[in-house]
Amino acid sequence: MKITSQYLRDKFLDFFRERGHAVIKSASLIPENDPSVLFTTAGMHPLIPYLLGQKHPAGRRLTDVQKCVRTGDIEEVGDDSHLTFFEMLGNWSLGDYFNRESIAWSYEFLTSKRYLGLDPDRLSVTVFAGDDDAPRDDESAKIWENCGIPRERIYFLPKKNNWWIAGTTGPCGPDTEIFWDTGKPACSDSCDPSCDCGKYLEIWNNVFMQYYRKADGSYEPLAQKNVDTGMGLERTVCVLNGMRSVYDIDLFQGALAKICQLSGKTYGDDAATTKAMRVIADHVRTATFLLGDPVGVVPSNVDQGYVLRRLIRRAVRMANTLGMPQGSLSQIARVYVDVYRDVYSELSDNSAKIIDELDKEEERFRKTLVAGEKEFLKVISHIQGSVVPGGTAFKLYDTFGFPVEMTVELAAENGYTVDVEGFKQKYAEHQAKSHAGSEQRFKGGMAEGGGVETTRLHTATHLLQAALRRVLGDEVKQKGSNITPERLRFDFSFSRPMTQEEIAETERLVNEAIERKLPVTCEEMPIEEARKTGAIGLFGDRYGDVVKVYTMGDFSKEICGGPHAANTGELGRFVITKEQSSSAGVRRIKAELRY
Ligand code: SER
Repeated sequence: MKITSQYLRDKFLDFFRERGHAVIKSASLIPENDPSVLFTTAGMHPLIPYLLGQKHPAGRRLTDVQKCVRTGDIEEVGDDSHLTFFEMLGNWSLGDYFNRESIAWSYEFLTSKRYLGLDPDRLSVTVFAGDDDAPRDDESAKIWENCGIPRERIYFLPKKNNWWIAGTTGPCGPDTEIFWDTGKPACSDSCDPSCDCGKYLEIWNNVFMQYYRKADGSYEPLAQKNVDTGMGLERTVCVLNGMRSVYDIDLFQGALAKICQLSGKTYGDDAATTKAMRVIADHVRTATFLLGDPVGVVPSNVDQGYVLRRLIRRAVRMANTLGMPQGSLSQIARVYVDVYRDVYSELSDNSAKIIDELDKEEERFRKTLVAGEKEFLKVISHIQGSVVPGGTAFKLYDTFGFPVEMTVELAAENGYTVDVEGFKQKYAEHQAKSHAGSEQRFKGGMAEGGGVETTRLHTATHLLQAALRRVLGDEVKQKGSNITPERLRFDFSFSRPMTQEEIAETERLVNEAIERKLPVTCEEMPIEEARKTGAIGLFGDRYGDVVKVYTMGDFSKEICGGPHAANTGELGRFVITKEQSSSAGVRRIKAELRY
């Protein structure tokens, strides 16, 4: 039987709808309340507040198909399995059912003739083996056994395999993973589902989310026990159809055909062409979803916009090697808009924007691409050794618009590496120059500020305010701040005591911003402009017409007189020591930095 993407989406949602789950819409690809990640990378991201105990308006049982973007393995795209965009099917219990129902339903969905009707003999599962943080999950193993999975196909594996967490802190827990046996012979006696020989392919992951991992690495039980399951749509369709590559599934056929038509080449002819076509198919799809997202991104030099630019430019470079004409990307995007018309109507709603932005970015980059490649080849013909200097990478970036990752790739194709550290240094020097005026004053302020620790605590205060606004909402406004070398004190408008979860989440966000080592930059601008950039802070007269806006990566933007640390990475571990009332409608937080 051939399983199409739409068949799997429909069956999955129907199954859980019939079991009391509300079908919720995919959230945006741009996390709205979580500054710690650029993109929604799993179904759980948009649901974190509800996993932590907030009430979800649709109830305690949810099911969804969530759009996800993961660019961590972007270099691998073009092989048989990696994608930068994918859909994740999920069912959710927010403090409602737990492992018993979750496992039994997964088994039923996979094996029942009314749903996928898979051969139960080809399923294997893994469960958590237990360690100092959490017990061995014998309970889940027993439930699997009762469903009909024999003991020898139930594997106990450690945290490395059977524990799920997004990032380093936050809600998490042991999981049980379901694998499909492709029928390949075992590669050795010790071959099990954790082996990557290709015999076992994971199709579903059920996470029993019941802990919170704190910044200090310790685990606390959550207020409620949740279930978070994830089934990668493209991958599962591929596996269940016995296909070798995810690019063989229905969703890519139109785009690949279009690429063949535009390039005059044949998919599968040779490895290089196949890889280039897959990269184009993948990157254009992701770009289409990012541009068409209701929150939406456009190509730029920072954050999500940079990733989008990188995807588009990489696709343009590949398209160029295949001899595809200007405007190819938007033609491929049109195919995707059609493919997803009934599932993600935002793509058709925003198709004009998608096409326009792709055409513009393709044109922009094609203007410099050829000259940049020439420059690159000229440089490597002169250098001694095999390392492309950082300065060259910077010139390619600055003059020709080559994302540094592309230069690295280009270098690798020619047997060279790139001095990426050198590139970063040049980049930082360039940034410093363009902010020279304010940087100078900033240093003066530090000297007068009295003590490194006070400066750090002041910097942490910005992060705290930004975190509070994310956790509690925009009604949070600074009412007072006081810093001694030992602690910070921050008063802010908010009408009730914070819950333990809110305090923990605030701490987590601040510590994440510290761990991300965000650069702290300062710019001077007229107050009106500052307001337009979305900077928070006191807009009173006492600042005069021109104000300083301090930006900490994508996390905080605030009007302030300084001084500040140059990078959030200089701060120690942030700990809230007290949350109390200050006066009516005003709360007070005391916090420290520990080293
Ligand atoms: N969050 C888990 C995953 O991404 C299950 O949904 O696999």
